[in-house]
Amino acid sequence: MIVCIDGPAGAGKSTAARELARRLGFRFLDTGAMYRAVALAAVEAGLDLADEEELARFAQSQQIELSGDRVILNGQDVTGEIRTTRITSITHYAASNPAVRMQLVQLQRKAAGEDNIVTEGRDQGTVVFPQAECKFFLTASPEERARRRKQDLASRGEVVDYEEILRQQNLRDERDRSRDVGPLIPADDALHVTTDGRTPAEVMAELESIVRQKLVTQT
Ligand code: C5P
Repeated sequence: MIVCIDGPAGAGKSTAARELARRLGFRFLDTGAMYRAVALAAVEAGLDLADEEELARFAQSQQIELSGDRVILNGQDVTGEIRTTRITSITHYAASNPAVRMQLVQLQRKAAGEDNIVTEGRDQGTVVFPQAECKFFLTASPEERARRRKQDLASRGEVVDYEEILRQQNLRDERDRSRDVGPLIPADDALHVTTDGRTPAEVMAELESIVRQKLVTQT
């Protein structure tokens, strides 16, 4: 079975997807990590990220692997590095590049193989796995998402002003929603789940029970 969790940044997708995969014994696919890894590799190579052709050519030469919870770029563990605000703010160059998206969509399908997976991103239920049996669209208000992001960054030693986080997040949402390729939109058959004012445990319980019901009806 393929479970897709799409939605805007900070809605709690990562935590939910990771834990859901663990509980179900499914593999977890963090597709945002792939776009982040391309951006990190490109900036480190001194590329002009706005040059679409150059970035697409470069991305093809990069080895990106998701190994459990780790993100490996050309043999190096970049799990922490890809999550900094610096990389977050430039990842849109990779995400809005049609040729890069095409490559990463292929990589995501290949990474999923025939396994049971929980995959998380923006276009999983619409573009990458339209045939998925179970699709969620996770949302929360911009303010709640920014508060969570602030806490998340603080836990990793990055102190960023709340207003700045909110501003960056609104910009990222707008870019994610308005791009021509793989935009952030719910699939027609996605179940909408709002996480405002709910604990991760409450959200998890809802998602898990829905997936388990689907698993039962499938067999
Ligand atoms: O989910 P995460 O915040 O790690 O994603 C980083 C960026 O990668 C997002 O802002 C989005 O622009 C892009 N992304 C995407 N498609 C996906 C996953 C992430 O465009 N499937």
